[in-house]
Amino acid sequence: MPSRENGLDKTLAELGVTTAEQVGSRFRELQQQFDLDAAKAHDEISWKALRDAWLGRKSGVLTLVTDHWLKPAAPELKRAVGASLNELRKHVDMQMEARRAAIEASAESAAAATERVDLSLPGVIRPIGTRHLLRQVFQEIEDIFVSIGFSVVEGPEIETPYYNFEALNIPEHHPVRDDMDTFYLDVPDDAPGKFLLRTHTSPVQIHTMEKREPPVRVIVPGKVYRRDNPDATHSFMFHQIEGLAVDSDITFCDFTGTIDYFVKQFFGEGVKTRFRPSYFPFTEPSVEFDASCVFCGGSGTAKMGGTCGKCKGSGWIELFGAGMVDPAVYGFVNYDPQRVSGFAFGIGIDRLAMLKYGIDDIQVFFQNDVRFLRQFP
Ligand code: DAH
Repeated sequence: MPSRENGLDKTLAELGVTTAEQVGSRFRELQQQFDLDAAKAHDEISWKALRDAWLGRKSGVLTLVTDHWLKPAAPELKRAVGASLNELRKHVDMQMEARRAAIEASAESAAAATERVDLSLPGVIRPIGTRHLLRQVFQEIEDIFVSIGFSVVEGPEIETPYYNFEALNIPEHHPVRDDMDTFYLDVPDDAPGKFLLRTHTSPVQIHTMEKREPPVRVIVPGKVYRRDNPDATHSFMFHQIEGLAVDSDITFCDFTGTIDYFVKQFFGEGVKTRFRPSYFPFTEPSVEFDASCVFCGGSGTAKMGGTCGKCKGSGWIELFGAGMVDPAVYGFVNYDPQRVSGFAFGIGIDRLAMLKYGIDDIQVFFQNDVRFLRQFP
């Protein structure tokens, strides 16, 4: 920074300056000094230091020039000093402004460089979850039945033996209870009754008919529980969709036609259905529906030759149980068995999903291994 070297602590007379030329050369020196200093101002801090040194009110160079050179100047030099000072001030002002703009611009471009977004970089891919395959199958089946006039209802997973058994025409010592023995809840001795985890969705038939007058057309998706040991086809918890249609004129043909329609919608038009006599306490007659084997096309022969392992060569695969609602059940819900008739069915969702998607172990549904789940986006 200039001060003593440039003679700013002295008057022009003390410096021996007596002519206008000498004044001019003093000011040229000062301007050179300024240009040198200005060239070093590369950032905001050094720019401010430069400004204070040259334009500072108390002891900036221009103030010193005014106080020491201009004010005490000899009358014949005053004009020259004044003019030179004005020029110098103009130069300093302009250069300061130019410097400021340059520093600002380079700070901006430096920031832009470090903050630059590279649009060619691959994006951050956040995996989006999908619905579990069982949920997808629930939805598929619900859509099919809803499209033909059924509505979806749900019921409690904790039931009383009355709804799970008795009202479905399964009295206390009936042998089918052996297949369905289940988890009973621990309740205090003075509790009003027993509670259990429902073994099937059929109790919701009773809840629905208790609440509604016929006609009734519902499907009931939900979880059910049984005291089964886990293996490739058993789980203590699995899923069902119950179906119930009751009206004044429902026939066995309506029943088989509805089921056939559903199976074809779900597995494909080429699939055939058949039913075999079966037994359930709450339907009469009861049937077991089969579909032509979806793996071998009903031929019983595997694609690679030999017997189809899935249908064991029969060409048929058992799907689910169903039947015409047993008139005894109407007695429990105050429907008049002389005036109404209907059918019911209970579809195992896990089993149907396994058949449709070629899955051979029910446990994969519950292990939540993403390598499995991701196969069904
Ligand atoms: N509730 C039966 C079970 O879980 C399945 C069933 C069979 C339901 C026949 C029905 C039916 O509604 O008509 O084994």
